Amino acid sequence: MRLVFLGPPGAGKGTIAAKAKLVYSIPHISTGDLFRANIKNGTELGRRVQAILAAGDLVPDEVTIDMVRERLKEEDALKGFILDGFPRTIAQADALGAMTDLDRVVNFVLDKEDIVKRLSGRRVCKSTGRTYHILYNPPKVEGIDDETGEALIQRDDDKEEAIRNRLEVYEASTAPLIAYYRDKGLLVDIDASKSPDEVLSSMVEALV
Ligand code: AP5
Repeated sequence: MRLVFLGPPGAGKGTIAAKAKLVYSIPHISTGDLFRANIKNGTELGRRVQAILAAGDLVPDEVTIDMVRERLKEEDALKGFILDGFPRTIAQADALGAMTDLDRVVNFVLDKEDIVKRLSGRRVCKSTGRTYHILYNPPKVEGIDDETGEALIQRDDDKEEAIRNRLEVYEASTAPLIAYYRDKGLLVDIDASKSPDEVLSSMVEALV
C-alpha cells in the first residue's frame, strides 16, 4: 500500500500513521520527523532547516524532494509506505508522481478550533518522537515519557505564533493538493475529529 497522509497541522496524521503502519506493515515516513532527527543529530541539513521549522515555514522544495527520493529507495519502502507531511506543495506532488505511483491519498479533515487545541496541548519525547496530548492522550505520569522516563517538551513550532504561521502556510501551499489529488481520483476524505481508534477504523474501511 502506497499512501500519502494529507491534512492541516495537528490533524492527527502522525498519530494515525503510528497505528496504520502496524495494520499495513509498511514504514511511516514523516518529513517533519526526518528534519527533526537531522536537527537533533546536528547534521548540515539540520543546521540549515532548524530556523525554518521553528518558524513554521516550508523547507525549500529541492531539499525536501531529494530527502524523500533517497528515503523511498530504502529496502523497507519498496513494498509500500505512508508518507506523512509530503507532498506539501504542487511542485513536491509533481516530483513524487515522477518517483512512484500512489494507491490513495488520505485527507484528514479537522476544523481550525480543534487544530489549535490539539497543537497547543501536544507534548513530545525528544529522543523517540512519541507524541502525547495534555488532555486527549496524557502520559501515565505528567510531563514524563511512558517508556524512556524522559521529560516531555513542547515543539518550538507549537507556540502560538508559529501555529498561526503554519495554518497560513497550509492554506496557501498545501490545501491546493486536495483538488490536485481529487482530480486524479486518489483522494479519500476522513473525519479526523473522532478518537484516534475511530479515525483509524474509518480510514481502514475506506481503503478496502
Ligand atoms: P510536520 O512534523 O509534518 O508537522 P505538521 O504537518 O504541521 O504536522 P504535525 O506533526 O504538527 O501534526 P499531525 O497531523 O501529525 O498531528 P499529531 O498526530 O502530532 O512538519 C513540521 C515542519 O517540517 C513543517 O512546518 C516544515 O517546516 C517542515 N516540513 C515537513 N514536511 C515538509 C515538506 N514536505 N516540505 C517542506 N517543509 C516540510 O497530533 C497533534 C496532537 O493532537 C497530538 O498531541 C495528538 O496526541 C493529538 N491527537 C491526534 N489525534 C487525535 C484525536 N483523534 N483525538 C484527540 N487528540 C488527537
